[in-house]
Amino acid sequence: MVQAYFDWLAGYYDEATAACAWAAPSALDQDSQSLVGAGDWVLDLGVGTGQSAAPFLGRGCHVVGLDLSLAMMAEARQKHPDLWLVRADLDRTWPVRPAAFQLAISAGVYECLLDPQGFIARAWEALVPGGHLLFTFDEYVPDHPVQSERVGRADSGLDNPIAHLAGWKMHRHTLELVSGWLAAVGFELLAERQFEADIHSAFQVPIYYRIILARRPAG
Ligand SMILES: C[S@@+](CC[C@H](N)C(=O)[O-])C[C@H]1O[C@@H](n2cnc3c(N)ncnc32)[C@H](O)[C@@H]1O
Repeated sequence: MVQAYFDWLAGYYDEATAACAWAAPSALDQDSQSLVGAGDWVLDLGVGTGQSAAPFLGRGCHVVGLDLSLAMMAEARQKHPDLWLVRADLDRTWPVRPAAFQLAISAGVYECLLDPQGFIARAWEALVPGGHLLFTFDEYVPDHPVQSERVGRADSGLDNPIAHLAGWKMHRHTLELVSGWLAAVGFELLAERQFEADIHSAFQVPIYYRIILARRPAG
């Protein structure tokens, strides 16, 4: 259902995210300035139409994008001929070489996953020792009109015409939980901050994400 939803959304995604002030790709760009440069390899987990990958291509990085939705990746391909794209389910084994990437990024994807701990373990495998993982997650926020549900519908004003597709569940997490999962695999948590990721189009309230920077130790 997640794949069908994003296949449907692909043609509208860039327009829709502009309308709701989608800020996760620029948060990744901002928080990775000192991490990678020209010639480095970056793995974009849930690349979508390429919004999160674009700044890294702009810096001269080699970017490999994984995604479940061929339609989303077709949009990315049109905009970014230099992007390497591979269809993959992030809840399963990733078709990438171990210890090959200086940086793994992911924006707006973690809440879609059924195996968020497996994602962290697979990111560890994909990174070179000393490499970084920079990703966002949709945070559980008590008293928030939308984010006080730990498991909620992927829902917004935009989704109304296809409400049956938007019925898949998104999973919100706490910093405590995610930092515990990172530590269990051996990642060092270097930084985290909350930011306004977008404006919910039905409720017209800010949606808060957290961005996490973690490192696979060099030794
Ligand atoms: C909200 S979009 C984010 C796209 C892009 N990173 C951005 O910031 O604009 C979420 C993307 O994650 C992909 N996705 C969701 N669940 C996935 C899974 N289990 N495996 C691979 N991709 C997945 C969707 O197909 C979609 O392209």
